Amino acid sequence: MSAGTATVIDVADIEQINPRNEAALRAWWEVGRDATAHRPGNPWPAWEQSRVALPADNPERAVTLLGAIDGREMVGAAMVLLPTRDNDHLAGSAVHVREDRRREGLGSRLLAEIEVLARGHGRTTLTGEAYLPPGGTVPAEAFARAHGFTVASRESIKELDLADYRARRDDLGVDLPPGYRLVTFDTTCPEEHLASFGVLLGRLFAEIPTGELDLRDSEWTPERLRAAEQRQLAIGRHVLTVLAIAPDGSVAGSSDVRVNDTDTTHGQVGVTIVAPAHRGHRLGLALKLASHDLALATHPGLRAVDTSNAEVNTHMNAVNDVLGYRTLETLLELQKPL
Ligand SMILES: CC(C)(COP(=O)(O)OP(=O)(O)OC[C@H]1O[C@@H](n2cnc3c(N)ncnc32)[C@H](O)[C@@H]1OP(=O)(O)O)[C@@H](O)C(=O)NCCC(=O)NCCS
Repeated sequence: MSAGTATVIDVADIEQINPRNEAALRAWWEVGRDATAHRPGNPWPAWEQSRVALPADNPERAVTLLGAIDGREMVGAAMVLLPTRDNDHLAGSAVHVREDRRREGLGSRLLAEIEVLARGHGRTTLTGEAYLPPGGTVPAEAFARAHGFTVASRESIKELDLADYRARRDDLGVDLPPGYRLVTFDTTCPEEHLASFGVLLGRLFAEIPTGELDLRDSEWTPERLRAAEQRQLAIGRHVLTVLAIAPDGSVAGSSDVRVNDTDTTHGQVGVTIVAPAHRGHRLGLALKLASHDLALATHPGLRAVDTSNAEVNTHMNAVNDVLGYRTLETLLELQKPL
């Protein structure tokens, strides 16, 4: 380099990672695991889960993995997720950089590649997430701001200690309104409720407060639901579901807890929703208690369940408070136009 001339050398290459190449996938997974190791709870999936879930075919969304590779080492890992059946204006993103290689521009280069891919598929909105300790911040917040993201929704990530839940369970009883009943199942919805369950799920994005997030409704036909169930089972994930059936036989609400075969000590709340016509009868609480009871009955070794809700979702937050959920982190749902 001659005096006075700045030479920029890009030491790392940004490459697409084939999820079926297990050694490459493992290196990618390790970057994400290490970059999220400071977070409480279970922020990163177990290797056995990622190893099966990431290469699995899923017609609902296309996933591209990117790696920042320096010599023979992976030092950054990113993902772009393109929904294909609905919300095809969106692209989801995640960027992780190894702690000893931050502030070198690697995160920016991975994000730039994500944006090229997303635009190339006609996407007009890019989303991302940042996980903050309550009242604190993390580099991802400043990184996102520097790259033009805004906060579309603030959520709380919460965890329930199931030993605590068991100890308090007898005091948490709630009666179902007259004429309603609960139906439970592991992943595969009984045929008689399938169509009505799909109608309920189709309004999810309209019904669940998601702040300014640019999400749109979708149609859940019986065929689409059945295919989704098969994909969950194929990757060893059980969706332990409770439906509230209204007096007219329609599905009035649902709640589920998901547990992976690879770690039956932790579960995750999936969807909890009560149709507007059936609100105000404490069905939300009844459903949530029943889905947690079902998860515990199916997996007695379950120790904790986590969930996330928008801070503005007062009704769901009140239900979670009653169950005993405690806030672990703040989640910023980030969004930028492309
Ligand atoms: C967020 C993350 C990906 C950033 O990666 P990075 O390679 O360090 O980012 P860059 O070097 O490209 O930073 C670009 C700009 O973002 C901002 N930025 C990044 N980290 C910052 C920090 N710690 N403090 C303040 N600003 C920061 C700066 O404006 C920076 O430009 P500058 O270095 O010229 O000032 C990285 O910190 C990380 O892996 N965090 C943990 C995982 C995570 O939270 N990922 C995001 C959620 S999916």
